[in-house]
Amino acid sequence: MAKVAIDGIVQEARPEELLIDLINRTGASLPHVCYHPQLGPVQTCDTCMVEADGPLLRACATRVADGSEGAPSERVANNLAAQKEPSAINHPRPGAL
Ligand code: FES
Repeated sequence: MAKVAIDGIVQEARPEELLIDLINRTGASLPHVCYHPQLGPVQTCDTCMVEADGPLLRACATRVADGSEGAPSERVANNLAAQKEPSAINHPRPGAL
């Protein structure tokens, strides 16, 4: 069983588990739009980006690897803000995003 650190807390992943499923199972909050467990990774929205061992990865398309570490980061926050900007222009209702 792979052990990974999510927000600094070591979690045990199921074999071949997707990172997004592990994060959701632990109760952490990770935005995601195009992923559903029964559909698998569609990989069209990039709202599930996380920083893991350096690079930004789609949590919905990344299998957990033993010893990985993930944490919220400024890079992820900036990435999410950049993604929301075009949506905010097309959907100007305050607080919608
Ligand atoms: S949830 Fe859309 S790319 Fe991961």
